[in-house]
Amino acid sequence: MKVIVTKNTEELAEQALQVMLDVVKNKPNAVIGLATGSSPVGLYKKMIEDCKINGTSYANIKSVNLDEYVGLGIESDQSYVYFMNDNLFKGIDIKQENTNLPNGKAADMAKECERYTALLNSMPQDIQLLGIGANGHIGFNEPNTPFDSTTHIVELEEGTRRDNARFFASLDEVPTHAITMGIANIMNAKKILVVANGANKAKAVYQMIKGEVSENCPASILQKHNDVIVVVDEAAYSLCK
Ligand code: GLP
Repeated sequence: MKVIVTKNTEELAEQALQVMLDVVKNKPNAVIGLATGSSPVGLYKKMIEDCKINGTSYANIKSVNLDEYVGLGIESDQSYVYFMNDNLFKGIDIKQENTNLPNGKAADMAKECERYTALLNSMPQDIQLLGIGANGHIGFNEPNTPFDSTTHIVELEEGTRRDNARFFASLDEVPTHAITMGIANIMNAKKILVVANGANKAKAVYQMIKGEVSENCPASILQKHNDVIVVVDEAAYSLCK
């Protein structure tokens, strides 16, 4: 695990951009695994800027996203499909048909889980971007999710719903369930890039980097992957010193 500690979120986004560009430029038809939440927003801004100014092209790139809320779709500005269009896809030249997210509104969610896992198996991620939850979740794989899990439906922890309530009008509006790539699907990526900032992530970052590898902290499994780059700010790294 390679760890890069940055002074602020600006530098964090810049370092993460370099890791992403290294993949995209060396393999113009790469599959990039993407994430939502506030952590990747700075990186996405920089990808858009770089695409416009330096002409980095995503025309042949394919993307797969980690997760989606059950019950939300593109018409909801809280859905992850909306988030991705708004924060990244509309600003770069990626083809809409090359972008993939689990469908939170599928009629048969069990079938949707199967479809998404089959899709991931057919196009393994050259890089998977991850944020980390304050409880150590990756994607929406909450503590005690089996390490060998594939795409599945999860009931969100109360703390996760509270953490994400800031994006909704009220806590009641935060969905109770999500569909997420499993931990095995994440670990199948050739390279993994984790971004985290802020003191509220310090404990999870410590457990991910230095803690025991345990299903109690889903992110700790990343210690077993052979190509992980963690980009954090000082506050998120503070307990690791
Ligand atoms: C959310 C997402 C995760 C994300 C994490 C951290 O619940 N499902 O993929 O990494 O929680 O979010 P944030 O970056 O907003 O702190």
